[in-house]
Amino acid sequence: MPDIMDLCELSPAYVRAIAPYQPGKPITELARELGLDERAIVKLASNENPRGISPKALEAIRAALPELGRYPDGFDLTQALSQRLGVTMQQIVLGNGSNDVLELAAMAFLAPGCSAVYSQHAFAVYPLATQARGAQSIVVPAKNFGHDLDAMLAAIRPDTHLVFIANPNNPTGTMLTAAELESFLRRAPKKVVVVVDEAYNEYLAPALRCPSIDWIASFPNLIVTRTFSKVYGLAGLRVGYAVCQPEIADLLNRVRQPFNVNNLAIAGAVAALTDHDFLRESFELNVTGMQQLLQGCKRLGISWIPSYANFITVEIPRLNTQSQAGAVFQKLLRHGMIVRPLANYGMPDHLRVTVGLARENARFLEALEAVLKA
Ligand SMILES: Cc1ncc(COP(=O)(O)O)c(C=O)c1O
Repeated sequence: MPDIMDLCELSPAYVRAIAPYQPGKPITELARELGLDERAIVKLASNENPRGISPKALEAIRAALPELGRYPDGFDLTQALSQRLGVTMQQIVLGNGSNDVLELAAMAFLAPGCSAVYSQHAFAVYPLATQARGAQSIVVPAKNFGHDLDAMLAAIRPDTHLVFIANPNNPTGTMLTAAELESFLRRAPKKVVVVVDEAYNEYLAPALRCPSIDWIASFPNLIVTRTFSKVYGLAGLRVGYAVCQPEIADLLNRVRQPFNVNNLAIAGAVAALTDHDFLRESFELNVTGMQQLLQGCKRLGISWIPSYANFITVEIPRLNTQSQAGAVFQKLLRHGMIVRPLANYGMPDHLRVTVGLARENARFLEALEAVLKA
């Protein structure tokens, strides 16, 4: 019998070096650990829509249940997206969440011997996807917690195949303006693929949204990714997409699993796209919930990074130069409150809090006040 560690060494060293993704703590797990009632736990840790799934999507999913015996056909969703976005169907690649299309971009364009550029404090999947291909990560120091596009441009090397940009970024909530991003695209080498990850695009005020889909015609190296996990309320279904030039889409499709988006996800996403009331209400709830959280933080003397998404990243003051955010996170758990610690993002003094329903935001502020006072 071979030793299990010998077997593990068959995996490339760059795979073994990956630090696994750390998801938000599940409600069920915390309930088990602390013997709490699940209904008493509030989770503001994964940037989900606190209203849950859109009623239209739920109805469509119920109607699609009898189709589960068949393999999925992404035609309807691809067509709906192409009409909505004004691109051809050949320009759209569906993913099992937008995480999947980020991985497809890495799979299609990265390999050992090449590099990807992304920002410090950017979304955790960029390092994971880069490392899994054996490519090198070039991590560019952030500026005021946001992307420093000039520094990212300067960091591009001849072996750089991919640049990842999150706009807005998770976990910092920072935003790039259309002028900044367009200028970057103009100046970036034409032979580098730029992924602009717009998972939180729909939470931006319309005037702040970039015409990123329109840019694809003039910047053939651009891939825009979006998701149904956030404002559309379908995080558990796993559906997202990439929009790019057909030739790039063709490459992503070559490394894509056949049938990577399931029947229910397709039906739910098609319906969610048309649920305009749900989208508007979700957007408005986020605006008022953000105000509620910011006012509460101000009252508690807690500072935050200005956010353009559906979460806010707050700074927990140090005690005698010692970081307290980890301890505050643990104490919040004991109050049945799950938020996200950010030490693994190189932000040991910060906690990220998803904007919830009014009563959930109030619970967070109460719990934080109690923990800070204790
Ligand atoms: C910036 C960013 N991009 C992409 C994703 C991936 O989301 P999903 O795979 O659910 O579409 C997330 C999820 O939190 C995110 O924050």
